[in-house]
Amino acid sequence: MVRKIGVLTSGGDSPGMNAAIRAVTRIAIAAGIDVCGIRDGYRGLIEGKFDNFTKASVSDILNRGGTILGSARLPEFKQENVQDAAVAQLRSHGIDALVVIGGDGSYRGALSLTKKGINCIGLPGTIDNDIPGTDFTIGFDTALNTCVEAVDKLRDTSSSHHRCSVVEVMGNHCGDLAIYTAIATGAEVCITPETGYDELELLERLRYLDLSMHKNHSIVVVSEKLTDVDALASKISNNTGFSARATILGHIQRGGSPSPKDRMLASLMGEKAIDLLMNGIGGHCVGIIDNTITSMPIDDALKATAKSRKYLYRLFERLI
Ligand code: ADP
Ligand code: F6P
Repeated sequence: MVRKIGVLTSGGDSPGMNAAIRAVTRIAIAAGIDVCGIRDGYRGLIEGKFDNFTKASVSDILNRGGTILGSARLPEFKQENVQDAAVAQLRSHGIDALVVIGGDGSYRGALSLTKKGINCIGLPGTIDNDIPGTDFTIGFDTALNTCVEAVDKLRDTSSSHHRCSVVEVMGNHCGDLAIYTAIATGAEVCITPETGYDELELLERLRYLDLSMHKNHSIVVVSEKLTDVDALASKISNNTGFSARATILGHIQRGGSPSPKDRMLASLMGEKAIDLLMNGIGGHCVGIIDNTITSMPIDDALKATAKSRKYLYRLFERLI
């Protein structure tokens, strides 16, 4: 029987993590389980940064971005002796299970602790939407809204000046944020790790949009880590009729009040985490697949192939 659980956030933060912390805390306490908030991810776990939570500890956080628990990266957590220290900390606080809200790196840490006897459940918290075992991650929808709002604004000013806006969005090595943004804003070009790009083809397309289609603006959405968007904008200015400007949306994508969709997702997933722990299940991650809250062993999720977004790329091609 689970009597006391810990909850922590790890890796890059995302809007909706607070909603997940709140759901985990309130649903556990309502079920008679004590809850400990662990600050600063696995680092705080090692250092013993534990706070006993009441229902009031998570008041007024549902609508707040970031994470009240703080997040951190601790590369040493891959080492077994460091994981042993974490288990010792948890045991000394009487904690017998843990909810880890983070990305696939955090999931690996959760799996290691489960193998050492602490049942852990992973909740997918990242704006990148790159976690296996779920169609959507907590924070993706909010980040998408931020991107769409920004690109809509860039379109206004680009139209006034016959410009091309080259917009870099986050996503780590996953193109979801870019392709969803491109479709939702009616962008002319979308470059992601899945598509790659040919510079000559891109310039040719922009010349066609200018000269043959008489477009007075164009939007190029680019996933981060693929190219230097300032250099790309210069090439566009020098080789097409558009003058181009690059905008890197950066960390504003990680902040902001979570969308209702992310609040709902986080609440449903938090509930599932507690149900799993109450059933003695550990080493699982929670997901939403075909609109249904599910869970699967972290091991299986990490081995799964990345979800295919071919239908989105096909749609984009048909819309431009
Ligand atoms: P995310 O969880 O968003 O993918 P990271 O990859 O940075 O972010 O991982 C977050 C933390 O999870 C790391 O700083 C580390 O503490 C822990 N972690 C990552 N990979 C492993 C691993 N293979 N084994 C154990 N812990 C890991
Ligand atoms: O994983 C979330 C994310 O924001 C990625 O999109 C991005 O590549 C990375 O984290 C940025 O990390 P940092 O906060 O360390 O700059």
